[in-house]
Amino acid sequence: MKNTFKNEFKIGAALNTAQIEERDSKMTALIMQQFNALTPENVMKSEVIHPAWDTYDFTVADKLVAFAQKNKMELNGHTLIWHSQLSPFARKINSVDSFRTFFTNHIKTIASRYDGKIFSWDVVNEALNEDGTMRKSVFLEKLGEDYVIEAFRLAQQAAPNTELYYNDYNNEQPAKRNGCIQLIKKIQAAGVRIDGVGIQGHWHVGKVPLKEIEESIEAYDALGLKVMFTELDIEVLPRNFQGADVNQRMATDPSLNPYVNGIPANVLAQQAKDYENLFRLFLKHKDKVTRVTLWGVDDGQSWLNDWPVRGRTNYPLLFDRTLTPKPAFEAVLSLKN
Ligand code: G3I
Repeated sequence: MKNTFKNEFKIGAALNTAQIEERDSKMTALIMQQFNALTPENVMKSEVIHPAWDTYDFTVADKLVAFAQKNKMELNGHTLIWHSQLSPFARKINSVDSFRTFFTNHIKTIASRYDGKIFSWDVVNEALNEDGTMRKSVFLEKLGEDYVIEAFRLAQQAAPNTELYYNDYNNEQPAKRNGCIQLIKKIQAAGVRIDGVGIQGHWHVGKVPLKEIEESIEAYDALGLKVMFTELDIEVLPRNFQGADVNQRMATDPSLNPYVNGIPANVLAQQAKDYENLFRLFLKHKDKVTRVTLWGVDDGQSWLNDWPVRGRTNYPLLFDRTLTPKPAFEAVLSLKN
């Protein structure tokens, strides 16, 4: 993948702790063969990296930074400010002043540690509702809506050599996209640096919104920003809503888990078509799209096996559970061959 698209955009994957620690040599070899960009799936999130007021745990994050440096891969830090997977101690802070101190220390400490060692940060993640208004997160409640500008300002000071991005899901959909554009314009109007916008790309087989995605690439590019697809996967199991709000869940029911013993060829073929169409669009806009990151390497690793229903067998990525390339992988590569 990385060689096929080397003149167009970086090809990334999200890694979990086992992958970062190189516990499986076959997996490590596949990562090094296919990808030239990495994102930590969880280990740079607040609850892992900043577990208590005065305690930071950089153990696994540092290993990832070393792995990326050793292999000359572009590392995207994920994520400085996000309401989900926030350290429990931070949620319990009552006073606004103390919360602001936490917010400032968190960004300064982590962003400055990795400045010059990682390529970019998702500075703020998922600050918007589906209608484009600001999500009522603990950050909004405590700090008011300028917290996003503040986060970018602090990141800019602490990490002058690191690209700074806003990241969200469904921000290709018109209402949320408009909210995203307003948010970006506010950051720019404040004279604060923002380099790019991430469209996560958690989509469903047969329903990839190509038109909205293309409109969004063009709209974000018109603001002078780089565009990247940061968490791409195309799931195949049923659910009754869109997006990636981790607080939304559905009850377990066998009818929601139809492919435990294998996935029908026609579903894999449709998924291959979807990936092919997406990558064709990315190639058309290669002057605007700088990175395409898959949210995992193989189907067995995907978060979608446990969300929004626990314990399902999902098939959203380009490699199957034995690390064998799927039809979607071949379809994507065939665009250039
Ligand atoms: O850390 C505990 C571990 O100690 C315990 O043994 C294990 C048992 O289930 O749970 C572990 O925590 C899990 C964590 O991932 C690490 O594996 C959580 O239960 C689980 O909820 C958490 O899920 C992550 C999810 O974010 C939570 O917000 C997924 O791995 C991760 O892929 C997902 O990533 C997010 C992006 O950051 C932002 N956009 C949406 C995307 C998908 O939800």
